[in-house]
Amino acid sequence: MRLLRLSLQNFRNYVRLDEETPRGVLLLVGANAQGKTNLLEAIYYLATFASFRARHDRDLVHFDAPGWGCPAVGRIVAEFQREGELRPRRLEVRLIREPNGIGDTQCRRLRREVLVDGMKKKLTEAMGLFNAVLFLPRMTELVTAAPEGRRRYLNMVLSQVYPAYAQALTAYRQALTRRNALLKTLQEQGGDPAQLDYWDAELARWGAPLIAWRAEALAQWELLIRESHWHLTRNAETLRLSYHPSFHPLLEGSLQREAENNQVLTQVPVEQIAFAFHRALVRRREEAIARGTTTIGPHRDDFCFRNNKKALALYGSRGQMRTAVLALKMVEMQWMERRTGRKPVLLLDEILAELDAERRANLQAHIVQSEQVWLTTTDVEGFAPDFVRQSTVWRLDAGVVSPVSAGGDQS
Ligand SMILES: Nc1ncnc2c1ncn2[C@@H]1O[C@H](COP(=O)(O)OP(=O)(O)O)[C@@H](O)[C@H]1O
Ligand SMILES: [Mg+2]
Repeated sequence: MRLLRLSLQNFRNYVRLDEETPRGVLLLVGANAQGKTNLLEAIYYLATFASFRARHDRDLVHFDAPGWGCPAVGRIVAEFQREGELRPRRLEVRLIREPNGIGDTQCRRLRREVLVDGMKKKLTEAMGLFNAVLFLPRMTELVTAAPEGRRRYLNMVLSQVYPAYAQALTAYRQALTRRNALLKTLQEQGGDPAQLDYWDAELARWGAPLIAWRAEALAQWELLIRESHWHLTRNAETLRLSYHPSFHPLLEGSLQREAENNQVLTQVPVEQIAFAFHRALVRRREEAIARGTTTIGPHRDDFCFRNNKKALALYGSRGQMRTAVLALKMVEMQWMERRTGRKPVLLLDEILAELDAERRANLQAHIVQSEQVWLTTTDVEGFAPDFVRQSTVWRLDAGVVSPVSAGGDQS
C-alpha cells in the first residue's frame, strides 16, 4: 500500500502540511531538529494510533497551538491506496487539546477522534487499515534495552495485524491498573482478598489472548528469521528468537526461563491459557498483596535473541546485534505482508548511516520492492547518485516541506 496524500495540521512542528506523496522512495533531507522524525511519527501513528516516542499524545500537538486558541487541534489526515481496492481510503486522527477545568489555558486534557472515510469510528475499527514498518536509529537498543522496549515493539507490530489485539491490550491495561490499585489498598489497609475476584477474571480474560498472539507471532518470526539472517550474514550462525512469557501456562515457576520452544505454546488453546493464568493469579494473591502489584502477566513479558544458543544481549557484538535486529525487521515486513495480503509502507529514520556497505546494499535491495518507502537523512550525499535520482526528494526546514525533485520512475 502507499500514501497518496498526507496533511498535517498543528502536528509537532508542522503548522500545516499538505502534500501528494508519490510511489517509490521519498527522501526527506534536512538538518537536525527540522521535523524529519516528526513526519515519520505522524505516519506511523496512522498504523498504530500511538506515538513511538511521545509519552503523552498531548505532546504531539504543536506546543504553541493552545496559545492560538483552546481547544487546540492537531490533525493527521492521509489518503492511501490499499492493494486490491478500487478506491483510496481516508484516515483522519484529531488530537484535541481541551481545557482541563476552568482557567486551564494550556488545554491539558487530550481527546482523540478517529475518522475513516469521513465517519467517526472506534479505534478498533480503524486499526489495521493502514500498515507500516518502522526502522529507528540505534537499532541495537531493541536487544540491549529493558524488556519494556521489546513489549512496546511487539504491541506496535501485533496491533496492526490483529486489530482485536489492541482492544485486548487496552482492556488488559485498564484491568491491571484497577487491580494494582486494589492490591495497594489491601496491602496498606488489609481487607478481604476476594475483592480481587472480578479483576483476576478480567486480567485472565484479556491477558490470555495477548499471550496467545505473542506466542503465535514469535513462533512464526522464528521460522522466518533464520533465512533472513542467513541472507545478511552468509555464515553458519543461527539466530533464534524466543518468547519469554512472564506467565507460561505450561511451565510454571522455576522452569519458566527455559521455555524456549515457541511452537509448543502455540498449541495451547486460548481458553486453557486463560484458565491457567486465572488460577495462577488467584494462587499468588498473597505475594501480590505483599508487593502491592501484579507480579505475573503479559505486562512483564519479554522475548530474547540468541546467536548460536548464546543470549545476544549478553554475549553479542554490536555488529551481531545490529544484524539480528535488521533480520527481525525484514521478517516483520514479510510477515505483515503475508498476514494482511498488503505491503506495508516503510519508514526508515536515518538508518542507513548505521550500516556498513554490504548491509546497506542488502537493505536497499529489500526496500525498493515496497510500494512506498520514506527515508530520512541529514546528508543526501550518503546515497548513491542513482538511488537519489530515482527517489523523490523533499527538503525539510523547521516544519516546512519543499519538494526538490520527483523520482525518475514515477507511475
Ligand atoms: N509539540 C511540538 N510542537 C512544536 N514543535 C515541536 C513539538 N515537538 C517537537 N517539536 C520540534 O520538532 C523538532 C524536532 O523534530 P524531529 O523530527 O525530531 O527532528 P529531526 O529532523 O532531527 O528528525 C524540534 O525543533 C522540536 O522543538
Ligand atoms: Mg530525527
